[in-house]
Amino acid sequence: MEERKVVFSGVQPSGSLTIGNYIGAIRNWISLQDEYDCFYSIVDLHSITVPQEPKNLRKNTLELLAVYLACGLDPEKCTIFIQSHVPAHAELCWVLNTMSYMGQLGRMTQYKEKSQKVGENVNAGLFTYPVLMAADILLYQTDLVPVGEDQKQHLELARDLAERFNNKYSPTFKIPEPLIKKEGARIMSLQNPEKKMSKSDENENAYILILDSPDAIRRKIRRAVTDLKGQVKYSDEQPGIKNLIEIYSAFSGDSIEDIEKRYEGKGYSQFKEDLAEVVVSGLAPIQEKYNYYMKNKDYLESVYKKGAERANYVSNKTLRKVYRKVGFIER
Ligand code: AMP
Ligand code: TRP
Repeated sequence: MEERKVVFSGVQPSGSLTIGNYIGAIRNWISLQDEYDCFYSIVDLHSITVPQEPKNLRKNTLELLAVYLACGLDPEKCTIFIQSHVPAHAELCWVLNTMSYMGQLGRMTQYKEKSQKVGENVNAGLFTYPVLMAADILLYQTDLVPVGEDQKQHLELARDLAERFNNKYSPTFKIPEPLIKKEGARIMSLQNPEKKMSKSDENENAYILILDSPDAIRRKIRRAVTDLKGQVKYSDEQPGIKNLIEIYSAFSGDSIEDIEKRYEGKGYSQFKEDLAEVVVSGLAPIQEKYNYYMKNKDYLESVYKKGAERANYVSNKTLRKVYRKVGFIER
């Protein structure tokens, strides 16, 4: 049998997910699980690079697992696990840290943004965050990493580190490729279409959460910033409308052209009203399943335990090779 290609991705359990996370990341994971050997992680080690209330972290981790399942990830088809349940991630991260250049890490956009927000006393974990991400990916001999546009730079670093290690020792890691869908890779804030939609936005009208109520969704879309042109056109000159068309297309499956045609000569309010219904009905089945899984904690536990078992098995194979090559004596 031909070996299936490997896919790895993860999301941090740092609060409710937005439709940006869904459209840019998780939605694309679903279609991959039939064809590839997929590993989808809840990256709790990453999430403590910013302060977390322990109680909330526990809660968010389980909720994210329920969201994964509700969106359609199937534990019979892919490996779903919690990052901290697989020690190899932190172990490989350490080895890769010793091969990472401070200069390159300092140039990471996400680091620059987050450290600026924190101000003084930036913790070292925030700095080496992308090295841990490289460890996540490289441990599974990953071919493809489906992520949103914002993670591209981190992926470059993972590729650099893999090549550096392979050159210094001998071929050990597969060089991973990013898988970034053109459409929906960057869903923008509803309040400022120059900024990406983010759950950490201080204005809650800027984002729609996967678990938002129908009324909240309708209200936020009604308030979404547009322009004075009055035409539903997918154009860089109308970033607000462009973003809304992209969301419409993602949830309805209709092409951008079809949507433009449908709303020719119609105003924004009809378009927004319809969009709200498209999003509400797109999220309804996910929300229903989410509520079901949240009531079945035993099932959730069985999913992450089984996932950790397989993830440990696969990742340890790579870690053992790395340790041997570096010169550590076998345990
Ligand atoms: P984060 O919420 O930053 O942990 O991101 C989790 C995943 O969602 C990553 O693959 C991101 O690239 C993706 N993502 C986050 N925000 C957006 C957005 N506004 N548009 C598209 N993808 C996004
Ligand atoms: N850094 C990613 C984000 O914030 C999450 C992540 C951690 C990840 N490890 C990963 C994504 C490995 C893809 C592959 O979105």
